[in-house]
Amino acid sequence: MNSRGSLNLGLLGLGTVGCGVINLLRRNGDEIARRCGRSLNLVCASARDINKRRAADLDGISLHADPMAVVNDERVEIVLELIGGIEPARQLALATLRQGKRLVTANKALLAECGREIFSAADKHATRVAYEAAVAGGIPVIKMLREGLAANRIRSIAGIINGTSNYILSEMAASQKSFQEALGAAQACGYAEADPSLDIGGFDAAHKLALMASVAFGMPLDYEQIHIEGVDAIDLNDLSYAAEFKHVIKHVGIARHTACGVELRVHPVLLPQRSLLAHVGGAMNAVFVDADAAGPSLYYGAGAGSEPTASAVLADVIDIARMPESELGDAMPSLSFHTLSDLPIVPMREISGSHYLRLKVKDRLGVLAQLTGLLAEQGVSIEAALQKEPLPGADTAMIVLLTHQVKEALMNKAIAMIERLDEVIDPVVRIRVETLD
Ligand code: HSE
Repeated sequence: MNSRGSLNLGLLGLGTVGCGVINLLRRNGDEIARRCGRSLNLVCASARDINKRRAADLDGISLHADPMAVVNDERVEIVLELIGGIEPARQLALATLRQGKRLVTANKALLAECGREIFSAADKHATRVAYEAAVAGGIPVIKMLREGLAANRIRSIAGIINGTSNYILSEMAASQKSFQEALGAAQACGYAEADPSLDIGGFDAAHKLALMASVAFGMPLDYEQIHIEGVDAIDLNDLSYAAEFKHVIKHVGIARHTACGVELRVHPVLLPQRSLLAHVGGAMNAVFVDADAAGPSLYYGAGAGSEPTASAVLADVIDIARMPESELGDAMPSLSFHTLSDLPIVPMREISGSHYLRLKVKDRLGVLAQLTGLLAEQGVSIEAALQKEPLPGADTAMIVLLTHQVKEALMNKAIAMIERLDEVIDPVVRIRVETLD
């Protein structure tokens, strides 16, 4: 560092978030300098097409088509990696750390999938990786878990942590938009990942959950063991049937510390309409944390978008700018704990919960009785049932069931048996029911 003079930044990526960082620095640079006691100076940036028109003023910033030129620029002290994806981001991150430079990244895929390698490179070269922007955009979730709740044992985290999925479900429920129309609108607003299957398949939320769980419980990153389901199987019918049961459908990530280990799962859930998370609409994110001393707390805000994410990127830069040079390597362990413990992950089949089941059946006498009988044989008891009359001329009916708590393994077995019945037409749609808060 140049002895509390200005701090030089190099930016990789001039997309939605990269331009947000430039705009925010230009607008609030003086205020930020007052906060960190030195000014932040963006000296260079890279983009695949440096001639493309951007939503930011690039005046005074050297532009490179080769991102490695930014990493290798001798003036650069902090590299802001805002490219996303695994490669070339991984190579650029490792090259940054090998040079002892600090890395600030919004790349949850990179950290969730290659974090062990990235963090160990940071330790080896006595430098630091900061990643507030990787989880829930503008909401300071990492800081909250790492600092604000640092005296607590965290019991559970449940979050709406993919803005695109939340936007899709909210738009479908409010305006009966089709899934594709709602996805198109989320992409137009800049919420979706470059590859939207990461959003709608639940993978983006799982990347964020892996990071939150590690920081909350002091466990190594374990993305591969997360149970992942997306919103792509949710139908407009499910949203309206859920409403008849006074529930909404949300896509959530859940990390829960239990006596048997840690539950790590990302999937759609039915939540009671009165629950706090049920009211989180549009592209907004919210993270609900249950901690032993602080109790329950809820964090709500913009989880994606240009300036909310830029706000988190620059918060990390400001942290580094404020920190004495001597403390950068070890003051803050990458995953918040100096010692990580290998907690077992609870297999999905061991988790107990209630379920919403939607079945398309042949409209024959006694089908409902047959189904409930079969479920009872498996120890699944029914809390509520709904039968939808067939449309005129159709010979199929829709049956919707809410079950009491049952172990996932038993539910899986019951669903497999139901699907083998001659009267059941399509695969059973199953959505877990949670109360969360
Ligand atoms: N695609 C992400 C979302 C952006 O929709 O939440 C922020 O990670």
